[in-house]
Order: sequence, then C-alpha cells, then structure tokens
Amino acid sequence: MTGTTGTALGAPAERREGRQKVTGAARYAAEYTLPGRAHAWPVPAAVTRGRVTAVDTSAALALPGVLAVLTPFDAPRLAEPEDGTLAVLQNPDVPHRGWCVALAVAETLETARAAARAVRVTYATAPHDTGPAEGHPDAYEPEEAGGQPGRLEHGDPEAAYAASEVRVDVTYRVPPLHNHPMEPHASTAHWDDDRLTAYTSSQGGTTVRSVLARLFRLPEERITVVAEHVGGGFGSKGTPRPDVVLAALAARHTGRPVTVAYPRRYLPTTVGHRAPTVQRLRLGAHPDGRLTALLHDVTTHTSRVKEFVEYAGVVSRVMYATPNLRSAHHVAPLDVPSPSWMRAPGESPGMYALESAMDELADVLGMDPVELRVRNEPDREPGSGKPFSSRHVVECLREGARRFGWAGRDPRPGIRREGPLLIGTGVAAATYPVQTAPSTATAEARPDGTFVIRVNAADIGTGARTVLAQIAADALGVPLERVRTEIGHSDLPPAPLAGGSMGTASWGWAVHEACTRLAAEPAPPSGERHVVRADTTGTADAESPYARHAFGAHFAEVAVDTVTGEIRVRRLLGVFAAGRILNARTARSQFTGAMVMGLGMALTEHSTLDAAFGDFPESDLASYHVPVHADVPAIEADWIDEHDTHLNPMGSKGIGEIGIVGTAAALGNAVHHATGIRFRTLPLTPDRIL
Ligand code: MOS
Repeated sequence: MTGTTGTALGAPAERREGRQKVTGAARYAAEYTLPGRAHAWPVPAAVTRGRVTAVDTSAALALPGVLAVLTPFDAPRLAEPEDGTLAVLQNPDVPHRGWCVALAVAETLETARAAARAVRVTYATAPHDTGPAEGHPDAYEPEEAGGQPGRLEHGDPEAAYAASEVRVDVTYRVPPLHNHPMEPHASTAHWDDDRLTAYTSSQGGTTVRSVLARLFRLPEERITVVAEHVGGGFGSKGTPRPDVVLAALAARHTGRPVTVAYPRRYLPTTVGHRAPTVQRLRLGAHPDGRLTALLHDVTTHTSRVKEFVEYAGVVSRVMYATPNLRSAHHVAPLDVPSPSWMRAPGESPGMYALESAMDELADVLGMDPVELRVRNEPDREPGSGKPFSSRHVVECLREGARRFGWAGRDPRPGIRREGPLLIGTGVAAATYPVQTAPSTATAEARPDGTFVIRVNAADIGTGARTVLAQIAADALGVPLERVRTEIGHSDLPPAPLAGGSMGTASWGWAVHEACTRLAAEPAPPSGERHVVRADTTGTADAESPYARHAFGAHFAEVAVDTVTGEIRVRRLLGVFAAGRILNARTARSQFTGAMVMGLGMALTEHSTLDAAFGDFPESDLASYHVPVHADVPAIEADWIDEHDTHLNPMGSKGIGEIGIVGTAAALGNAVHHATGIRFRTLPLTPDRIL
C-alpha cells in the first residue's frame, strides 16, 4: 500500500527547524514585534466564586503608558462560545478563582503588569464548593468519557468478583497535574479594518480560526491564524485558550497590535489541568491468573464552566480478557478551574491504576507480572468485541524483559540492599488509541525539480515539518532534500490539531495522497503550476471494523533511600509497538520525552487543589516539580516493527502520548519491589515514603 521507492520514511532525519530554534531565530507567538505592538496583562479573580461588582481602573489608567483596562463591563461583546472558558470579560460572574476579570493594556510589558496590579476589583462573594469529588452528593455518571460511553459493563462483574477465588480491591489516587509547556500560552493579535490576524501558540490553528470566527462573528476568510513554532502543549494548547481571545479583544478595543503572554503563574487556573482521579480497581482471578472480573470505577471532578471527564476507565476496555467487565466514571462539578487535556488524558492515570493493580494481583498469586499479563491477553478488544488491527503487547513485554534482564528476577520485595538503599524493579504495559481525522494538503511540483507540501499542521516540538517531508519524499520517490514543507498558517489547507497522537497520521495521509496523485499525473504545459490537492477523511473509531491501538511495555529500576525517602530512578526502558516508525530520531525523542513526563507523574509532579481558595499553590516551576536532567537516568526507548495495513497509507500509529502511559505504574511497582510497601497515592515524594 505504501508505494515506497525512497528510503526517506523511517530514516532518523534531523528536524529541519532545529538550528533556527537553538539560535533563537525561530519566532514564537509573543515575538511578532509588529509596529505599535502593545502588551496586555490579565487580572485573575481573587475570590473562589461570586461576581465582580466594580472595577476601579483609575490608578491603573493614571500610569504613564497605559492604553486601556478592559473589564467585564466594557469589553467588546462576543458571540457565545461553545467552550465556556473562552467567554472572558463577557459578564461579571466569577466561576472560579483565577478567572480573568480585567485586562490591562500598555505600551510595555512592565507597564501592563504594573497596571494590572493597580486595578482594584470589588466582588460579591458566593459560597463555594471545591470538593473533594469522592463521595460528593452532586457526582453523576457522565454520558460520555473520552468519546466513549461513560459506563461500559459486560457480564455480571459484581457477582463474578464476589465469587472469585483470588481478589484484589485497591484504590489509587492521582492528584491534579499541570502541563506547563516551556512556552507559556501566548498570542499576538492585530486588526486591519475587519480582518483579524492572530499569531498564537496552539496545537491546531484551523480550530483557532473557526472558534475566533464564531466569537467575533466574522467569516473565516477574514481571519488568519499563524502558529509557526510552538513551544510544547501536551494538550493544554489543543483548543484555543483565553490568551488568543483576550489578545483579539484588546487589539480590537485599542486599535493596536496586542500581545498577551500569559504569565506562567496564571496558567494553572486558566489553561486546564489533569483532573484528579480516585480509581478503585477490583480484580477477580482464578488461581492460574486468568481474570474472572475487572471493575474499574473512576471518580473525578470538572468545573461548572464546562464538563471535562478524565476518562481513566477506558483502558480497562482494551487491555485484558475477562468475561465480566465494568469501567465507569463518576464526575462532580465543582467551583474549580476547568480541567482539560494533558498528555494521554484518561490513559495515563488509568494505566497507572490498572497496571499497579495487575502488579498487586501478580503478588497475591505469586506469579511473575509479565506472565500474568501474557496469560490475560485477549483475542479481541474486550470492550468492543472487535479484532485488533495489530497488537504486539506480548512482544513488547518479552523484548523489554530480554533487554532489561528481567529473567531470574527474585520476586521477593524489600530484600535488595545497598547500604541505606533498597533496590527494586517493576514492569507495566502501555496502550494508546490510534485515531485519524479529516485533513487536506497540497503538493506542488516546481519547475526546478523541487516539491512543496502545504498543510496547516502544527509543530509543537515534534518535528512535523521533517516527518511530513519524509512522507512526501517517499510517496514522490524523490530525495528528502527536494521537498519543502509549509505548515503553521491558516492560509494553508486546513488540518486537524497536533493532538490525540493523530497529527502525523492525519496530515500525512493527505500529504501521501496528494503526492501519490501528483507523481502519477502528467506535468501540465510549461508555465502552469502543477499542484494537487487531497482531502482525506481519516477513519473514526466507530467506522473501523478493527480496534486500533498502539501498545508498549515499560521496565524500571529504582533505588529507594531509607534515610531520606528519596527515590532515584536507575534505569527506564520502554519498548513500543506503534505501527511503522516514520522518523527514528524524532520518534525516540517523543517516546523518551513522554517517559520523562511519566517519571514526573510518578515521583515529583503534584498540584494541590486548595479547598479554601479553589486554586493551586504550585504555580511555577519552583513549586511544580517537573523532572530535570539529574532526575532522568539511563532512559531508553525502542520499538518493534509492526506492519499494520488497517491504519493509513504510511502504516503508522501515533507516538506522542503512549510513552507516558504506564510509566508511573512501572516505577510504582519497582518501588514496591524495593520496599515491600504499596504506595497508592502519587507522587511518591519523600514525605510519603518515610
Ligand atoms: Mo494531547 S493531551 O491529545 O495534546
């Protein structure tokens, strides 16, 4: 199906914008220094719930260089957004602390910041409820969780569990987590009569344009959205966030180009968080390890602004054979900031719980945890009954075990000592769904023998330009150097976001089709441009007769210091089966990057939802601890070649998210092996370990 002639696909090509990035030449959204450009600084709500009764802007406006202060009472009016988090400065209601209640606009960033601090806001407070979600009287079962039914049940799981010979009933807790991309959310907007241009840090400029069109009641043709370089997103830039709306409002109001660079300390309340989960896992099994029942109950929260469900239970519909299955979600709407996507939303906390519970079951059974997983390998997807398009989780476990040196592991916990250190190893499996969305792309043959690929893809640090050029070169049968890629601009053919690990597959499908057709067509008479446009539909899950997922396995070795409580990771190995790997270098970077994020989830990352204020005290990188180089040991990612013809013309699955799935479980299981103690609340910080 691939029509491969060249060697471009799969090669470890260097990312094309690498030099631009490290030399500072690559431009990010806040760096468009348009003539007359002004800066804006938001004022976050200082109460947990209530209403703004007055905004005194006089002191702010008296500062030299201040252009305006927008308030809920006088900001330009927008159409009602589908996403309630974008209705900023539209009414005086304060749904949660940190909600934007005013915006100061000034000639310089420093003045804007000083002006924001000089704004005096008066509130009428209302009683608030920040949870917890667990046992909350308003908790309900959502219709949908991650695009699937909120609850799925097969057989009679309660009765089957009660009748099981071997049982594990355990509850895991994952705290709120924040994405904290290196580049905070930022947008620069300017109006030219009735044309709006927005430079924005986004994972999907096509969506930003359509959302802005709706909000500002403009045809899409009058809006240009540019996202040339994006300094990470992890889901927090998957849809437009308030920065781009505020920039456009302020630019409209002042008649100047305006940059809103969200201060990092304001991100936690503004751009989403991974909602905390309490997950109860009940596993019933025969003494030989075969599961008789699997019950996965997830409790989480959402805001009152919009419903977002951290769909942690869906992984139990994919992983293991069991005649009795339940995966259900319960969500409590609270007066808290709106949660949203964070790398592998659902799968990441879900597999932490499921794969930790599987380890606990292996322990009770006295069975090797790799063998327990192999024994429960399903021949069809448990939730849907569909056959898998490809599933090599056993191969990942076996290959990982071989490379890691798992054979001969002494299963007894708490017995390997090196002075004050206790040493242990752990394993966990990984899974992430394969999705593709409709995309368009064009391919142009130039008279000089080069080719230009155009698609409004986003490069959020993954190397999208590079891999799309590889897909094109492969389909055209030409050397990689002859292909140029244009992405990150809404004048280019529309494309889905870089999210759901589906960017490359979706964009690449359209690029592949455009190039294949271009190569097959006779060249037009000289002087005419030779351009082919392709519209591809992708395949939604519901339409496919196959269950399509990437799989993997993580192996970890840790040393737990019994004096300080500190956990050091000695080795981390991930082996993945993710279809065809399209660029060995950038793929490895994505796998290991996600594994580092999983390491952070296991050991260091933690946001506290302060019950009194409904806010997160960890609001910067000094308090929200993402792993640093010293925390990251010998980390290795590798993959098994997979040939799956049920995916897309490249045969690829997504790779952006699977690396974080299961990492925390492998580390937690290693900590148990080291210490003999099960810690079921993340992160495993020294205060919990001692
Ligand atoms: Mo990812 S959380 O789909 O950007």
